[in-house]
Amino acid sequence: MPALPSPRRLLVTGGCGFIGSNFVRFWLHRHPESRVVVYDRLTYAGRRENLTGLWGHPGLSLVVGDIADQAAVRGACQENGTDLIVNFAAESHVDRSILGPLAFTDTNVRGTQVLLEVARELGLRLHHVSTDEVYGDIPEGRRSEETSPLSPRSPYAASKAAADHLVGAYHVTYGLPVTITRGANTVGPYQHPEKALPLFSTNALLGEPLPLYGDGLQRRDYTHVGDHCRGIETVLLRGESGQVYNVGTGEEITNREMARIVLETLGGNQGLVRHVADRPGHDRRYAMNVDKLRALGWEPGCGPREAVARAARWYAANRWWWEPIRGGEFRSYYRRQYAHRLTGDAGVPSPDVSGGE
Ligand code: DAU
Repeated sequence: MPALPSPRRLLVTGGCGFIGSNFVRFWLHRHPESRVVVYDRLTYAGRRENLTGLWGHPGLSLVVGDIADQAAVRGACQENGTDLIVNFAAESHVDRSILGPLAFTDTNVRGTQVLLEVARELGLRLHHVSTDEVYGDIPEGRRSEETSPLSPRSPYAASKAAADHLVGAYHVTYGLPVTITRGANTVGPYQHPEKALPLFSTNALLGEPLPLYGDGLQRRDYTHVGDHCRGIETVLLRGESGQVYNVGTGEEITNREMARIVLETLGGNQGLVRHVADRPGHDRRYAMNVDKLRALGWEPGCGPREAVARAARWYAANRWWWEPIRGGEFRSYYRRQYAHRLTGDAGVPSPDVSGGE
């Protein structure tokens, strides 16, 4: 099947979020002739500051809106002659999905379906940014392929899996041109400090404990956001309609090792690691086979250890970005999520982050 036509006018939903803003920056740098409309609700994690230095670029504009608002999405697409919707917009934090799951269904499931409806009405292509979490917990020795069954285990993962199914269904039923990428645990600049890597980095910089869930031996494929964005670009330029592509390094490290690298990189004391009560239903391992994306000519630029170190260095160099976030609403979230964990007994082994994993 021939590759899809190269996109020129993009509506990037969630373009002020973590991966979305990195993608917008990357795309406009690589494709300065194209036009990008960022469509974002500007929630706690979607921030104008994430595109600092880019506002004023002739190819960039912002529409503030909800992806679940069909008229607003349609209007933004029509006004800008959009040919491709790239959907990064999502409620993305597993821990928040455990505290309040309904918002995840509203945005991740209904919101994605609204985008599909608009794409269907206006004859647009849609690329959907998904996650390795849809495959569920992967036993040692196995890797998820794009055709593996979906087995999500958190409200967040379930909402993303539902969205993936809807995207697939619109392709089959209506012939809508769609592609999906399923990304591994992504790290890098502008990731909200509620997520493990920026939380650990900023806590290390503040001399505060790093709350490691359970025994910390869960395995994740920490992938640098730059590699993730290049993976999406590869699919946008050379992917096949109706196909799913995994994006990751193809290698995993434990969360203990991630914490150790963060502290080593930032010169923090390894004794700052605290084993705390685990996340309910915590998946032990995510691991994907990324050969399908490799076959399109993409390679990760670095493995998980370097990705973690590079990301940690960014937080050390960019306090201007995260200090105001940590001073705001984040404080009450942090108390709710961690106060009992950091004061109580997690009932797990004492910290040992020095050993091999
Ligand atoms: O794998 C892809 C997914 O990666 C994305 O779909 C999600 O949107 C993204 O948030 C991320 O999900 P995780 O649950 O893996 O990310 P998080 O940064 O929350 O946690 C990474 C690992 O670290 C996970 O095993 C849980 C653990 N963790 C997390 C936090 C916040 C801790 O040990 N302590 C913590 O305080």
